[in-house]
Amino acid sequence: MARATLDGNWEHDHTVPSRTLYPHQWSWDSAFVAIGWAHLRPDRAWTELTSLFDAQWRDGRVPHIVFNPAVADSAYFPGPRFWASATVEGAPATATSGLVQPPVHALAAWHAYRRAPSEYARAALGRLYPRLVAQQRYLTTRRDVGGAGLASIVHPWESGLDNSPAWDDPLAAVPAEAAVLRAYRRRDIVHAAAAHRPTDLDYARYVAIVTAYRAANYRDDDLIDRHPFLVECPLFNAALGAAESALAHIAEEIGADPGPHRQRAARITTALVDRLYDPTTGTFHPRDLRTGRLTPARTVLGLTPLILPDLPPRQVEAILVEAGSPRFGLAERMARPLPSHDRTAADFEPLRYWRGPSWMNINWLVRRGLLAHGQPRLAVGLGTSMVELAATAGCHEYFHPDTGAGLGSPAFSWTAALLLDTLTEDQGRAPC
Ligand code: SER
Repeated sequence: MARATLDGNWEHDHTVPSRTLYPHQWSWDSAFVAIGWAHLRPDRAWTELTSLFDAQWRDGRVPHIVFNPAVADSAYFPGPRFWASATVEGAPATATSGLVQPPVHALAAWHAYRRAPSEYARAALGRLYPRLVAQQRYLTTRRDVGGAGLASIVHPWESGLDNSPAWDDPLAAVPAEAAVLRAYRRRDIVHAAAAHRPTDLDYARYVAIVTAYRAANYRDDDLIDRHPFLVECPLFNAALGAAESALAHIAEEIGADPGPHRQRAARITTALVDRLYDPTTGTFHPRDLRTGRLTPARTVLGLTPLILPDLPPRQVEAILVEAGSPRFGLAERMARPLPSHDRTAADFEPLRYWRGPSWMNINWLVRRGLLAHGQPRLAVGLGTSMVELAATAGCHEYFHPDTGAGLGSPAFSWTAALLLDTLTEDQGRAPC
């Protein structure tokens, strides 16, 4: 099933996340998908990552969508005409969005390489390395709006968890004019149930934030003075730190110097703990740079710093407590994978995108964190629940966190890719 899903979504040099909902190339989807291709067709893993980085902007940003020119503008909203990247200095010839997504690419490249090492793969990794370094440089310089060593996101889409309750407070401050949305037509709710997707009000704000960023030609200077949404996200910055650790491994493999990557990884981990860990809740929260405050929701974002190999024991322990609580239900035997939001919260919505449903990529990341921090039994418990979910419901985009019913798009690429990866790794690993 996973193989058929990936094969069906392969599109000349990349994999569409879904043939219906997402008919172009998405940045963090490509990273996860490359890990799946490494098990089936390693050549496609490297083509996937290379085609994405071919659209890297001159400033180092890797756009969150690379548009396929063969697909009609009307097939996805907001399409290439809305983003108008061609008019912006430093953007590639191919039309792209102007936003980024969590930088999970170095981690994915390193995993893809380890799953299927070869001379061909090492050469591809070597060609990707300077582009991965440029991506990190962009995020750690241009996007360090708070000045404390973390990257800021400028849009909820950059978090990857578009309508997470984590963004409710910062989004509430963004003026939403209904007129903005009347000018456009959403395409997502043609292909998926409206109750499974962000609301119209969310979309009005999403469009307003892009409009503000686009009006400044997607520049990053003076963001603090003019941009309506600026947040330091725990997942985004955990990915940023994990990328430096992965780059250290990659550098060693290709004969470059791993030292600076190790130092940067340590600095990012320290900044993440200083800025985003709340000792009173015992979990990580996003920091809203417009108010200076941590956002209160306890979402699955708070568990993701576990992917940092050098996370201090105190925070590892706190994440294990939070993950094992009734809010998320991590256990050696668990019926369902982690939900995207606190199950006990009043605003938990089991059908609506990132406000409750379970997603394979976040579970895969947390599972990697469990393995990195010496918790193989919990990793097996989580992995088993992930495999059972997809085996029963199919390779859906996301899943009802209680019933396990498939939600969003069927035949979703990263679900297939990470299912394959989890299945392969769990073989031969007994639960006890
Ligand atoms: N995730 C967004 C969507 O749903 C775009 O990146 O379309």
